[in-house]
Amino acid sequence: MSLREDVEALPWYHVMELPGGVVTPGADDPRDRLPLLRLPEDMTGLTVLDVGAWDGFFSFECERRGAARVVAADWFAWHRAAHGSKRSFELAREALGSKVDDVEIRVEDLSPERIGTFDLVLFAGVLYHVRDPLRALDAVASVTDGDLVLETHVDLVLKRKPAAAFYPAGELTGDPTNWWGPNHAAIEGMLRATGFTDVVRVFPRTRMYELMRVLKRRSQQGRAVFHAKRMLRL
Ligand SMILES: C[S@@+](CC[C@H](N)C(=O)[O-])C[C@H]1O[C@@H](n2cnc3c(N)ncnc32)[C@H](O)[C@@H]1O
Repeated sequence: MSLREDVEALPWYHVMELPGGVVTPGADDPRDRLPLLRLPEDMTGLTVLDVGAWDGFFSFECERRGAARVVAADWFAWHRAAHGSKRSFELAREALGSKVDDVEIRVEDLSPERIGTFDLVLFAGVLYHVRDPLRALDAVASVTDGDLVLETHVDLVLKRKPAAAFYPAGELTGDPTNWWGPNHAAIEGMLRATGFTDVVRVFPRTRMYELMRVLKRRSQQGRAVFHAKRMLRL
């Protein structure tokens, strides 16, 4: 079978460009989100953990930027038929000639003993899927020895005090795995409470931009990106 036929036979979440002009027919085009994450252009020599990697778009992008070692971690999307299949990640890895490692693990189970520590941890699109965000961030912090890039769904963004919307029964997009919509202040507070420092919101950058978004969408829901640091080696 050709690569195109192999791709068409599998479920995809990420739109990804593979060799030979093959583009995976994913539900999500992460090429739009990539600039918002503000990943370092040059990642030469870095060790990177991509938590909740799914088809691996961001893992492969970090490798392309020169990362010395990239680990793609996931479980749900690789094993639950309703989500997808790990075979999609594996096929993309083969097609790209990538050396990205894969580890099957839930974010709550991350620990230095299980997986090691990393210069940069990418935690994109996962926080709102966990039942206990502080516990998940504790686990993420335990394996971060440098920088965290956190991308997530947000809600209640007009509130200045820390607050979070709770979606106990699929209120967010009908997906019962969406639990929480924290606002910016809540995410900043959670990051500090789990040992991160130098917390900066890199998207959206200004309150005016956020207000314009809220007016345009008539909704306080959206996405946000935070950078933070945690140094284990002093
Ligand atoms: C919305 S997708 C985001 C995929 C990718 N990180 C991105 O930003 O495009 C959510 C991902 O989080 C993963 N996920 C959900 N709950 C998780 C958990 N408790 N531990 C690890 N990954 C989880 C899913 O398997 C899925 O791959």
